[in-house]
Amino acid sequence: MRTYYCGELRKEHIGETVTLYGWVDRRRDHGGVIFIDLRDRTSIVQIVSDPQRTPDSYELANTLRNEYVVEITGRVTQRPEESLNPRIPTGEIEIYANTIKLLNSVRKQLPFQVSTADADPVREELRLKYRYLDLRRDRMAHNLQLRHQVVKAMRRYLEDVEGFIEVETPVLTRSTPEGARDYLVPSRVNSGEWFALPQSPQLFKQLLMVSGFDRYYQIARCFRDEDLRADRQPEFTQLDMEMSFMSQEEIIELNEKLVCHIFKTVKGIELQRPFPRLVYADAMERYGSDKPDTRYGLELVDVSTVVKDCGFKVFREAVTNGGIVKILPIPNGNDSISNVRIKPGGDLFKEATDAGAKGLAYIRVRDDGEIDTIGAIKDNLTTEQKQEILRRTDAKPGHLLLFGAGDTANVNKTLDRLRQVIAREFGLIDPEKINLLWITDFPMFEWNAEENRLEALHHPFTAPHPDDLSDLKTARAQAYDLVFNGFEVGGGSLRIYQREIQEQVFEAIGLSPEEAHNKFGFLLEAFEYGTPPHGGIAYGLDRLVMLLAKEESIRDVIAFPKTQQARCLLTDAPSVVDTKQLKELHVASTYKPKS
Ligand code: AMO
Repeated sequence: MRTYYCGELRKEHIGETVTLYGWVDRRRDHGGVIFIDLRDRTSIVQIVSDPQRTPDSYELANTLRNEYVVEITGRVTQRPEESLNPRIPTGEIEIYANTIKLLNSVRKQLPFQVSTADADPVREELRLKYRYLDLRRDRMAHNLQLRHQVVKAMRRYLEDVEGFIEVETPVLTRSTPEGARDYLVPSRVNSGEWFALPQSPQLFKQLLMVSGFDRYYQIARCFRDEDLRADRQPEFTQLDMEMSFMSQEEIIELNEKLVCHIFKTVKGIELQRPFPRLVYADAMERYGSDKPDTRYGLELVDVSTVVKDCGFKVFREAVTNGGIVKILPIPNGNDSISNVRIKPGGDLFKEATDAGAKGLAYIRVRDDGEIDTIGAIKDNLTTEQKQEILRRTDAKPGHLLLFGAGDTANVNKTLDRLRQVIAREFGLIDPEKINLLWITDFPMFEWNAEENRLEALHHPFTAPHPDDLSDLKTARAQAYDLVFNGFEVGGGSLRIYQREIQEQVFEAIGLSPEEAHNKFGFLLEAFEYGTPPHGGIAYGLDRLVMLLAKEESIRDVIAFPKTQQARCLLTDAPSVVDTKQLKELHVASTYKPKS
């Protein structure tokens, strides 16, 4: 029987005989005395065996190799002064092993070192293929334990303090429009028909409000077939919540308390409430993004009104065509950002064009206060216009001003990207800072140029602002996102709960009454049986834990994640299936492998 976990042993256990189970983290032979670091999920403890004091265990101890699984019984002893190790919690003691039982050995060469003592970086593909070994390593074991602590804190707060009830919602369901492609599952029983895996539990949680559950939450798995990035996985986890009879202010307050509870419990950090807020329009204007990292400045400046009639065609036409001209002012940017970097072929030019820009105009303020710039600005802007640009951007000697001109979304995207690159390069980001920020007052819709129609910015169940009901197309939504150091970690809204408004919103996004009825008839009908006003939010659990763990990818806080190519390298999924299975499902593949 195990008496302790390895990491629990301290000075006060000296003299006790203990039984431990674990893995050999490493074994050292110091001239006839064998030292073993024994590891379990808690930590490491030092085991000692020598021919004089522990003759019964010595022979076996000698044969142990890294990652062998053992049971060890021995006496907890004070370490001699010279071998105290303050770096580990068990560093004051060691265990003289009376008996060691080998439970299992390692028969193959380890693909990489697991021991904390060998913290060499390992290729991610190899880590993912042997994920069970990677999860034994310190970093991943720590991240998954942190994830567990976060979920535990969420559950404790929501259930014990706020009276939320966890309800599971179906995974085999209809498509929910969260904006991504669906993962589809063919139905064998209902030939030719398909389930969709949920992109979120959105509609079910709203229906639970119709049922009167009042406060629902779920740690919910969501599935979205979208392009993957470091902060996006095809299946990911949300803390999903929905509440009835609460205003936006009340929902935000409850959620701030929840977030404060998580930080306090998991990190011991007291956050200040209320969290800062920005309305969407200001966030876009000042940062070009609806998830700005506010740990540093580098705010954008709109100069459209200054250059709208200027002689430089690119600026003038940007404004006359309904777009904008904006500047990213970079204090002390002159020295480190050469012209080579911002002209075609340069790294910053490439960042800009990758984000959609056609070029990257600039102005430099020299040490003597004179300006250097491209010919087109020098020749086509008046002295007053140049002076006004310097005034608005508060440009001083050493400043570099980078311009974005054109379609508003493109300009914002370009300058947001450059802002982030420059902040990293200039070391402007304090990694210890925790900036939580609500973005509110999103527009209800954005224009989807490809499909030539309006699209819901959040989802089509979001309630319009009551002051904006007269023109739904330009209305603000009662929606709120929580941004943490430049990442969107949560998003939610008050919901529509009246059939007529829901129908108007469906119409605005181009759904005909028939389509709306076919897809969401059950929801529209439910609205007619006494639906309470309600609203909710969902947090990206993976993103939140990634930021708390100071990792750069959500793959590092998920036990068995997919690669950027949406594959599981451990099980080699997805894979081909038997033709028999496909036949049963009445499914045939049209895929033709390239020869
Ligand atoms: P939304 O689509 O904004 O809202 O999702 C909520 C949060 O989930 C996280 N997230 C992701 N995390 C990892 N991989 C992904 N592919 C991914 N997509 C989203 C983000 C995001 O803020 N039903 C609504 C919520 C509501 O209105 O209550 C919804 O799903 O952190």
